[in-house]
Order: sequence, then structure tokens, then C-alpha cells
Amino acid sequence: MNRVYNFSAGPSALPEDVLQKAADEMLNYNDTGMSVMEMSHRSADFKDILTKAKDDLRELMNIPEDYEILFLQGGASTQFAAIPLNFMNGSGKADYIITGQWAKKAFEEAKKYGDVVEAASSADKNYTYIPITDRNSFREDADYVYVTGNNTIYGTRFRPESYPDTGDIPLFADISSSILSEPIDVSKFGLLYAGAQKNMGPAGVTVVIVRKDLLGKQRDITPTMLNYKIMADNDSLYNTPPTYGIYVLGLVLEHLKELGGIEAMKELNEKKAGLLYDYLDHSKLFKGTVVPKDRSLMNVPFVIGDKDLEEEFVKKAEKRGLVNLKGHRTVGGMRASIYNAMPLEGVKALVDFMKEFEEEHVQGTDTK
Ligand SMILES: Cc1ncc(COP(=O)(O)O)c(C=O)c1O
Repeated sequence: MNRVYNFSAGPSALPEDVLQKAADEMLNYNDTGMSVMEMSHRSADFKDILTKAKDDLRELMNIPEDYEILFLQGGASTQFAAIPLNFMNGSGKADYIITGQWAKKAFEEAKKYGDVVEAASSADKNYTYIPITDRNSFREDADYVYVTGNNTIYGTRFRPESYPDTGDIPLFADISSSILSEPIDVSKFGLLYAGAQKNMGPAGVTVVIVRKDLLGKQRDITPTMLNYKIMADNDSLYNTPPTYGIYVLGLVLEHLKELGGIEAMKELNEKKAGLLYDYLDHSKLFKGTVVPKDRSLMNVPFVIGDKDLEEEFVKKAEKRGLVNLKGHRTVGGMRASIYNAMPLEGVKALVDFMKEFEEEHVQGTDTK
């Protein structure tokens, strides 16, 4: 079977070169006579894999030395609890910006541990924009401010230069669906984290990047496995980490370096997203759902406004090898997730198909 263009929001497409390399090394990694899957996490070979993945991530994202990089389990959702447990340790207050369901879930989880408020929200317009804040939006004694960098479901994003100004309050961001897609100034954040399964590798690894001076003040009740300090002191090897996931993540990072790093990725991502948004802005059938200035580079939701036609579109697209275009169940319509591994040709194929579909359904349209 031919490979398809997979527009899934996650787990998502991985670079073919990476999958091929993993396949080539499946039975015998680096002359060890075994698969990485079969290897002790305490072995020298695995430690080399882990160290190289960390070093490559540090280099690619320009992560300062005063930040720890952790490879954890439990997915992004586990961090929703780990964050208040580790960092709600001063006033017991935290301020959340609610830009979609993932932020809302993190907010609800944090409420179990302290005094948590919504500092801003875009719920009034179904999360189709990013609310504007200034320093007065946040409580002066908040232990941290929390945002979701890229909203996978609604297709909005904080641009790297427009993250909130929180003054001395540490800013934390869930960048699960935008990590490695464009440069971001890590030093502006107390903590960044991301599940791997969109832009970095298979599900099972969660990357946490945290400023070292924030560690070690967790609540007494913090479960050992959610204690970032313990994970940092043990170099993510307190227990068995998701070894194979870390290995594939390492391959993705190597591949990214070969392509020219995150700057090169940003250029390609802007080209891909631009192509799709430009078509949406001119189409008589399809419509983007997000305020243009807050559009995501990674997740592009769009609608026709007629459920039957949308269903027909998704089905026909699938027959063309353009799969997983159905929108999130809570939003409807369509969504094209165009993460790093989606080639420009994939987006071109999608836009060509959309034009064809439009010509079929809108009389007198000639999109050529
Ligand atoms: C922005 C964001 N945060 C958190 C999650 C939840 O991730 P996980 O399934 O790894 O817990 C997702 C999943 O799609 C997401 O898009």
C-alpha cells in the first residue's frame, strides 16, 4: 500500500527517513545484536541515546544550561497535575489563560491543589482567538501563569513574540502541538512541556523543560513519579523510561538538524500553512474559523457549514489518500494538522483536492 498524507492531530505523521532508519535498526542496533526495545535502560548504549537526544534538543531549541530537560511518561495530561504539585508552593495561587479544552483541563486539574483563577479566556467566541493580557491581568503573588501555546483543537496559537508578559511570575506553557515548529525563546519561560506524539515521535514520551531554580519546592504529597526534582536528579532514569520512544525522538531530532534546524522548519511551516490559509481566504465554499492574526501553523480548522457536504468531503479526500481530516468531535467541520513531518506536497495535494471539490459544488467557480 502507498503511504497516505496523514493529517491526524496526534499521534501524527513521522518523517519517512526516521521510520526507515528505525526499521533498519529494529533487529540490531549499533551492532549490539538487539533492538533498542530489548535494551536495558541502564546500558551504555541506551545512555548514549538519551544523552544525545537531550543534547540535540538543547541545541535545536537553544535551551540555556540553567534548564533541565526531562523525558517523562504519562502524556501531557499527567503534567496538568504535576505542575501545581511541583510549583504551587508559595502563595498557593496560579493564573490560567483559557484558550481551549486543553487549557481548561489543566485549569480544572490545578483547582484541586490551590487557588486557581482564569486570568483571561476566549470561551466567549468558541476559542477562535487569543485573548490579550498585560501584567495587570495576573495576580502579583501568583506562583505561576499557565498557557497553552498552540491550541490543537481550535487552531489558534500564541505567536512566539506575543506570549504574555508576566513580569517576575514564571510563565509555563504546554507546547505539545507546536514544539520544534518555530523558534521560541526558552529563557522567557519557567517551564515548557510537550507530549511527543505530534512533532517529536511516538506517544509515550513527554518532554519537560524546566528552569532549575524552580525545582525542589514541591508539595509533600507529590507522588514520587510526578516529582520533577527526583526525575531531574536521576537524569530521567529514576525508573524505566519510555526507552523506544526516546530513541525515535532522538532520530527525529537528528533528522531536524539535517534539515537545517527549527529556522528551516519555520520557513517550511509558514509556506505550508500560508498555502492553505490563502486558499481558505479566497474560497467560496470553505472557510477558516480562526481570527487571522492568531492562526496556528500546525492545526488548520475549516468548515463548509453543511454537515452532509463536510462528510462527503472527508470521505472523498480519504479515497485520494488525504486522511484524518475530520474536525475534533466537539468542533465539527474539518481540521488539517500539518506538523513538521507533513511535506509541502501533502498540503498542495489537499488544496488541489479542495479546489476540485469546490468546483464540483459551487456553480460558476473556476479556482484555477
Ligand atoms: C495542546 C495539548 N495538550 C495536551 C494534550 C493531551 O496530551 P496527552 O494525550 O499526551 O495527555 C493534547 C492532546 O492532543 C494537546 O493537543
